Parts: sequence; structure tokens; C-alpha cells
Amino acid sequence: MKIAIAGKGGVGKTTLAAGFCVFLARRGYQVYAVDADPDVSLGVALGFPSWLLDSLQPLIEMKDLVEERTGGGAYLVLNPQVDDLVARYACRHENISLLRMGGIKPGGSECYCKESSFLRAVLGSLLLGEEDVVVLDMGAGIEGLTRGTARGVDLLVVVAEPTPVSFRTARVITSLAGDLGIARIGAVVNKVRNQAERDFIAASGEGLQVLGCLSYDEEVLDRALAGGDGPPAVLAGRLYADLEGVGARILKLAEGG
Ligand SMILES: Nc1ncnc2c1ncn2[C@@H]1O[C@H](COP(=O)(O)OP(=O)(O)OP(=O)(O)O)[C@@H](O)[C@H]1O
Ligand SMILES: [Mg+2]
Repeated sequence: MKIAIAGKGGVGKTTLAAGFCVFLARRGYQVYAVDADPDVSLGVALGFPSWLLDSLQPLIEMKDLVEERTGGGAYLVLNPQVDDLVARYACRHENISLLRMGGIKPGGSECYCKESSFLRAVLGSLLLGEEDVVVLDMGAGIEGLTRGTARGVDLLVVVAEPTPVSFRTARVITSLAGDLGIARIGAVVNKVRNQAERDFIAASGEGLQVLGCLSYDEEVLDRALAGGDGPPAVLAGRLYADLEGVGARILKLAEGG
């Protein structure tokens, strides 16, 4: 099963991805957490020790590997062979395997054709592979998905905050994902603070399949800001109770229910 998590910057994609991975691991699933963000974030949110994360280079930054698989020199191999990379470069902690795919940092005038082709191939190999559950933290945007790679996504979860602007963005992402051919698309509303916001969600869900809400939880934020090694921040406060409910509904929809 392959579940991708998308949404605008800062809405809580990494928090949901980490919480969902922990939820799955606790239920005995073999979990592959894939970080497609240019910054280290999913590993930290999952509570991977810093020494392990420091040793984990994003695939995209392995210049020799990218060069080798995409063809040296001026030529570009459009469908590089990358099927072996997950097994070779993932690291494991508390029943979760983490792969840092990395993302392309925009800016500058360089051409990123090789990197893009490489990342698309890794994404394709992950999403089409046989792993038990792949949870992909997409970073802010679904640009990395093409029609080809989208075929391997069983469910896309769009994270939103309880505001009209955020809901509008979630609808745009939902519609783009639908155009790519992703059959199941759900939404999770994060950082919900009060009844007025719950009423807003109930009244404004049109065009979105809202799978549930996650409460705003200061303890989680404080724990995330404090940094350092330790259990995942998503376990710090009451948030995990919400995550269990939302996680069960994500799983059900991904399985076709
Ligand atoms: N329910 C919540 N309650 C309190 N704080 C939260 C909650 N969800 C997320 N946060 C905090 O909000 C910040 C952004 O969350 P997160 O990193 O998960 O978002 P993101 O969508 O992955 O961001 P980015 O687009 O930068 O990757 C983090 O500091 C996180 O700890
Ligand atoms: Mg993130």
C-alpha cells in the first residue's frame, strides 16, 4: 500500500506522516517512511537518533550515484534503474525504515534534469514496489508526481488548516491529483483549536473527503521546538489520540473501504 501526504507549507504534513507511521508500526505493519523534503524533517519527527540521521545522506545529494544511474557526461538516461536503492540506503529504527530521498532546492540557474529524472525514477520504484506500507511525505506540492508515478499511489492525503484559504488550496491539490489519475484522495484538517473551527470544517467540506481532524496541541509544538533526541514529538501530548482515529480512517480508505 502506498500513501502520499501533501499540502501547503507548514500545515502539518510531516507531523501527520510521522504519526501515521508510528500508528502503522504499532499495528505490526512493515513501514517505509520516505522523506521527499529537501530538509531533514521526517526522520526528526519520527524520533530517529541524530547520529543515525547524520549518517543518512539524501539520495539526491549522492552526486556519483545520480551521475552513474542517469548516464555520465552530457547524456541523460530518462528511466534510470534504481530498484535496488531502497534496500541499500534505508535505515531502520523502532520498526520503521526511513529513506531520505531529498528534494531539489530551487534557485540558481543550474539545470536539474538529471536530478529530476533520478527522483522521479526513485519515486516510481517506491510507489510501484511490493513493500508493505510506504508513507511518503511529499514536501509542499505535488510537482514530483507525474501520471506514471501517480499510478502507484493508493491514496493521497491532503493536509489543511481550518481556514477558507487553506481549504481552497486543498481543493486545488485534490483536483490536480484527480487529473493525474489518483483514485482516492482524502483530507485531514490539522491544528484545530475550538468548536467554531469544527463548525467551519463541517460547513465547508464540499469537494473534500474529510477523514478527520487533529487538535492543535501546544505540547507537540513545544516538543518539536525543543529538538534533541527522544521519542517522536507526535507522542508528546494528546495529539496521538486524534492520530489513532485519523490513522484508522486513512488505512480504511487506502484499502478501498
Ligand atoms: N496539531 C499540531 N499542534 C501543534 N503544533 C503542530 C501541530 N501540527 C504541526 N505542528 C507544528 O507546526 C509546525 C509545522 O508542522 P510540520 O513540520 O508537520 O508541517 P509541514 O507541512 O511538514 O511543513 P513543511 O511544509 O515545512 O514541510 C511544526 O513545528 C509542528 O511541530
Ligand atoms: Mg514537512
